[in-house]
Amino acid sequence: MCGIVAVIDSQPVKKTIIGGLKKIQYRGYDSAGVCFKSDLKLVTIKVKGSVAKLETELNGYDGEIAIGHTRWATHGQVCEKNAHPILSSDKNWAVVHNGIIENYKEIVDERTSEGECFFTDTDTEVISSLLSANDFEDNLRSVLWTCKQLKGSYAFCAINKSDNHVYAAKHKSPLYAFCDGKMSMFASDPICFPKGDYYKFEDDEICKMSKGKLEFFNFKGEKIKKTLQKYQNINSSADLNNFEHFMLKEIYETPDVLDRVCDVYEKLDLTALKKLKFSSVKLVGCGTAYHACLMGAEFFKRILNIDAEAVQASEFRYGKQIIGSHSLCVFVSQSGETADTIAALEKISKKKAKTLVITNVPHSTLSQMGDMHFSTCAGPEICVASTKAYCSQVVVLYLLTMALKSEKHFYQALRDVRKLSEQIQKFFINISPFAEEIAKHDKVFFIGKGIDYITALEGALKLKEISYINCNSFPAGELKHGVLALVDEGTPIIVVATDEKLYEKTMNSALEAKSRGGKLFVISSLLPQAYELKDFEMCMTLPKVPKLLRGVMAAIPLQLLSYKVCMIKGLNPDMPRNLAKSVTVE
Ligand code: F6R
Repeated sequence: MCGIVAVIDSQPVKKTIIGGLKKIQYRGYDSAGVCFKSDLKLVTIKVKGSVAKLETELNGYDGEIAIGHTRWATHGQVCEKNAHPILSSDKNWAVVHNGIIENYKEIVDERTSEGECFFTDTDTEVISSLLSANDFEDNLRSVLWTCKQLKGSYAFCAINKSDNHVYAAKHKSPLYAFCDGKMSMFASDPICFPKGDYYKFEDDEICKMSKGKLEFFNFKGEKIKKTLQKYQNINSSADLNNFEHFMLKEIYETPDVLDRVCDVYEKLDLTALKKLKFSSVKLVGCGTAYHACLMGAEFFKRILNIDAEAVQASEFRYGKQIIGSHSLCVFVSQSGETADTIAALEKISKKKAKTLVITNVPHSTLSQMGDMHFSTCAGPEICVASTKAYCSQVVVLYLLTMALKSEKHFYQALRDVRKLSEQIQKFFINISPFAEEIAKHDKVFFIGKGIDYITALEGALKLKEISYINCNSFPAGELKHGVLALVDEGTPIIVVATDEKLYEKTMNSALEAKSRGGKLFVISSLLPQAYELKDFEMCMTLPKVPKLLRGVMAAIPLQLLSYKVCMIKGLNPDMPRNLAKSVTVE
């Protein structure tokens, strides 16, 4: 997490660096800072709060060389002191960093015994301290030496007050570089760059940026040649386009995303996929992507009759996994940078299992890993709460499973998804009365059975992360095994019931909660019977779509509900407290 940007230009760079930082605030937004190099001085401005707040503090400051940072705290409280850039004690170096330095305590002890003082509570300060520890004639040598002392994960940019370069290094955290002959940039995400081709740092690479020039080196200090990466133009922008928030914009983009998935997958060569031989499947992801994995596991079981299990990446890493040459492991991630998901894939890389990766960010770390890669084609997702990307993850898993079944099934699946897209387009309903009710409460339960339980899990995660209401989800049948004790007068129970075969059973459980004071808010594919309506506080009937895609259909009103509740509570859905979009630390 954390986002870093660095720029050298022949004109003042304030606008470029602030513009870049605003685009990567999804990586963290608890504090921000920038350091300009002007003459032989490093001028650092930092704030607790957002990049917009930082911008207001920059009046009168600018320069042609700058590094900037937007933070998601890992070490040390959220405060101005701990915001980056972090200066070395001699004020010769300034550093912005994304990642975690695992051996920072040892370095602090060692440096302190040598008389060094530390002023922040961050792990990053050891980088600036090490950079200034030796008097190498060439600053590049200081950077190389420093990298060799560090353990953990890092992408950092550093400037020294005595020269006109920015130095950057990468080990296990993403970093990219851009140069058009005039302006040069480093950033955690190429969305910060003007449209055009860029370079991707590999692990253990260093770059020295000068005006209009980039030079890459390995950790031995040898010059290396890099190949330009093609800029991938997805027809979806990272701008608000008249929407008040990215979350709403992204929910409304879902039909277009699903159509794009169909357009892309229709033309895709799936021969390699169809040749796969496996008898069990593990699907691995975190948070919302894990919920997509749960859906995927249902598809493998129901469509292919194959044993499938979804596992949270953080558990997969440390748990015992029975995996062999007969296994297919599927890794799902929007960002493609989630540390736990990457580590889970690395864990099995020595086994003979086939690995298939599904990501949304084509240049991401995970996208370059695994035996096969598939894109979710959702375009930039900026809001921390995942919406359109979840829908596309589920739909891609559906298409791939159907492709594994047969060509006929795959083409049917494409038609199903196009139909789903049409139905969603017509179903952006006014959810305000529902949201007004839910917003009054400080706890909400979500229940469902089978696939509907997965939708309940996702609905609860979405609502809790942006409304801060305590939301929990349960299989409907589990209520009476303990949870009913928590239901009291007025407790909202959101009931997801899209499967006609399970409808009655789900309702029996819901009514048991109602008898204890619960209020039922029902989301169903069936029209309620007149006699049922008296039991429901509210009831929403979803448009008809194929059974296995009803979870995607039901996700839409739940996403809109979360957004609306968040609005009623006066919160910012795009930047919920304590969270960041790209979880690049364990
Ligand atoms: C919730 C949400 C998170 C992510 C999770 C994994 O709305 O967005 O739970 O799904 O952090 O992120 P990715 O998909 O980037 O691996």
